[in-house]
Amino acid sequence: MTRSAAVTRPTVHFTPPAAWLNDPNGLVHVDDEYHVFYQHHPASDVWGPMHWGHAVSTDLLRWQHLPIALEPDEKGTIFSGTAVVDDDDTAGFGAGALLAFFTHHTDRQQFQSVAYSHDRGRTFTKYEGNPILEEPSAGPDFRDPKVFRFHGDEGEAHWIMVVAAGHCLRLYRSDDLLNWKPTSTFGEGQADHLGVFETPDLFPVAVDDGDSRRWILSVGHLSGGPADGSGTRYFIGAFDGEVFVPDQDASVVRWADHGADFYAAQTWSDAPDGRRIWAGWLNNWRYADTIPSGGWRGTLSVPRQLGLVTTPSGLTLVQQPIAELRGAGLEVVSLRDVDPTDAATALTGVEGTHLDIELTLDLSAPGVTGSVELAVAMGADERTVVRYDTGTGSISVDRRASGLADFAEGFAAEHSATLGTVDGVLALRVILDGTSVEVFAGGGRVVISDLIFPSGDSRAVSLVAPAGSRVVALDVRDLDTATG
Ligand code: FRU
Repeated sequence: MTRSAAVTRPTVHFTPPAAWLNDPNGLVHVDDEYHVFYQHHPASDVWGPMHWGHAVSTDLLRWQHLPIALEPDEKGTIFSGTAVVDDDDTAGFGAGALLAFFTHHTDRQQFQSVAYSHDRGRTFTKYEGNPILEEPSAGPDFRDPKVFRFHGDEGEAHWIMVVAAGHCLRLYRSDDLLNWKPTSTFGEGQADHLGVFETPDLFPVAVDDGDSRRWILSVGHLSGGPADGSGTRYFIGAFDGEVFVPDQDASVVRWADHGADFYAAQTWSDAPDGRRIWAGWLNNWRYADTIPSGGWRGTLSVPRQLGLVTTPSGLTLVQQPIAELRGAGLEVVSLRDVDPTDAATALTGVEGTHLDIELTLDLSAPGVTGSVELAVAMGADERTVVRYDTGTGSISVDRRASGLADFAEGFAAEHSATLGTVDGVLALRVILDGTSVEVFAGGGRVVISDLIFPSGDSRAVSLVAPAGSRVVALDVRDLDTATG
């Protein structure tokens, strides 16, 4: 197996044209364009002096690459942050200016700075008064500003900035985006028992698609993640424009993703139709620099629409691939109400390295026991298995035999979470896109994202389901030609 065979480019996931990518930055929708800025080291395929790379899209799936947006300067390199549109010219850079908030990083310190654009993000001017927020007492880790406009019940509004400060988050407010006043901290003494906080986000989400909303605070933990290394955690709670109060004890850990590879997630500002969509970096700091490279290294997750649903154990975050994805592939299998063996036979005719598979399986008949196994990227010696155990309700991605794995200790592993079944019906969405598998189980209540590096020849799919179960629906779409 050659190295290059193991880095098949994704078709519906964002990748840099060349060189290194890590966090998504400055996700914003403006003038009918979605923007992705991203942590980028253009000189190499390993992490180095950070720039903001840039691309735009109208559907979040097909991207047009643009020149680098922000380069290091005498104040430091350019770490992660946010972009917002200043419609009312609160900052004085002009109504409708696109503002990028980022961390200036040096070996000695980190502080927050801003740049503005009058041409839809094509060029930025750094503000001459940078930095706009320094906090010597915060320690060496003080980064990743998330900025958004908070609207109160009485129609009043102000800006919020959330900054990761080591083992806590610091919140600030401002009327003009340049002068920031501290309002609260979050995490100290309760939520801080894992690795340092990074890349926070804070946003409201409708509950059960209704009129009431709760706030989600998401953070990356650099270590202590669900599959070892980095991971993305979330809290549900209330936010009054100054203080975030979690509904549950803040020491309770809830992972947004139970795989090894979903980090630094950020939501798009101003996405139309009230949608709240986020994307993360499909990687893990434990081995990010050592994964096989194809000259480019780094992939963003599929953009995921977020919701909150009421479950017997309380409110839960749900993530579903954006609706646009269903239109991106070519339908190759579509079955309704068939025996699993018939579905398995249909899958013997399917091959691909880029597939979108939706399976709804009825497991409610008496006597149904054992496991469901959906294998993708299968070859003579390789397979990546999505497994559901009807006895324990556990769902997992098993990448132990998925392909190249010797670049990092412990990469060959199985990552699992508890799903349970929803009324005896298992709903799975599996997105295989070259070098990644993302599994959305139970309507997106449980998500597992894992990188894999199979040989390009591992293209087969198979399904094994317990006797007595019934395939309610199986749809497979080939994403091979999804981008043009
Ligand atoms: C998260 C992170 C951020 C930082 C950036 C540097 O992955 O460590 O905290 O701003 O990456 O590239």
